[in-house]
Amino acid sequence: MADLKDKVAVVTGAARGIGQAIAVKLASCGANVVLCDLKEEWLEETVALVKEQGVEVLTYSVNVIDGEAVKEVVADVVKTCGKIDILVNNAGITKDTLLSRMSEEDWDAVLDVNLKGTFLFTKAVARPMMKQRYGAIVNIASIIGLIGNAGQANYAASKGGVIALTKSVAKELASRNVRANAVAPGFIDTAMTKDLPEDVKNQMMSAIPMKKLGQPEDIANVVAFLAGSDSSYMTGQVLTVSGGMVM
Ligand code: NAI
Repeated sequence: MADLKDKVAVVTGAARGIGQAIAVKLASCGANVVLCDLKEEWLEETVALVKEQGVEVLTYSVNVIDGEAVKEVVADVVKTCGKIDILVNNAGITKDTLLSRMSEEDWDAVLDVNLKGTFLFTKAVARPMMKQRYGAIVNIASIIGLIGNAGQANYAASKGGVIALTKSVAKELASRNVRANAVAPGFIDTAMTKDLPEDVKNQMMSAIPMKKLGQPEDIANVVAFLAGSDSSYMTGQVLTVSGGMVM
């Protein structure tokens, strides 16, 4: 298990699903966690789970697309905790529809949260991380950003963008001992996938060699590895966690 004792880890979209599992996993490895989501009250369940691990927890209500708010959160965390060691850009949304029906609003909304939100948080933590000569940034991408998907042009573009952003940030910050890596989950059992039409789910399942959905903890385990010193010579990498769906 990764040793993250006394590290400070910021997790966006931490109220539920993969973000919640990441927060709990990092806490179980000893990290103090900073939970961000659209509404602070949505974070109550995650706070309780994190506290069971005996670490410190802070919560912020922040929309990742609001650059000023993101800067304020990062400044406040640095002031309160003295540092930020780990950033997990997990907040994400889908607005799936075929290209011909996709509105500009659907395009912009998904690109804003998934890609611009990742950029804004990464930019905000870059300075304190460079200054302290230490940092691990882990971005939650998607296999769809690697292989594309009908009905998800906006989502695929945003996650492909996250992968390209990750590699560029990795190259820019490597000399300051700040690493940036991405995880590309496959089909994970969360609210995001619960409402997919049954035929889409069946089609996905038939494409997964391991014949089961991933659990949020499967992603959290890999995030903890990328956040800790076991991966200290890895940067700019994309680890696919998809039950073999993408090889
Ligand atoms: P989810 O919908 O269960 O949770 C997303 C969280 O992000 C929610 O708590 C939501 O309130 C928060 N959020 C959304 N917009 C936000 C904003 N503008 N500012 C702050 N917080 C915001 O989703 P899930 O499944 O846990 O996904 C987490 C990440 O994993 C996303 O980036 C998603 O694209 C990615 N992913 C999920 C897969 C899946 O199969 N569930 C597969 C591949 C990637």
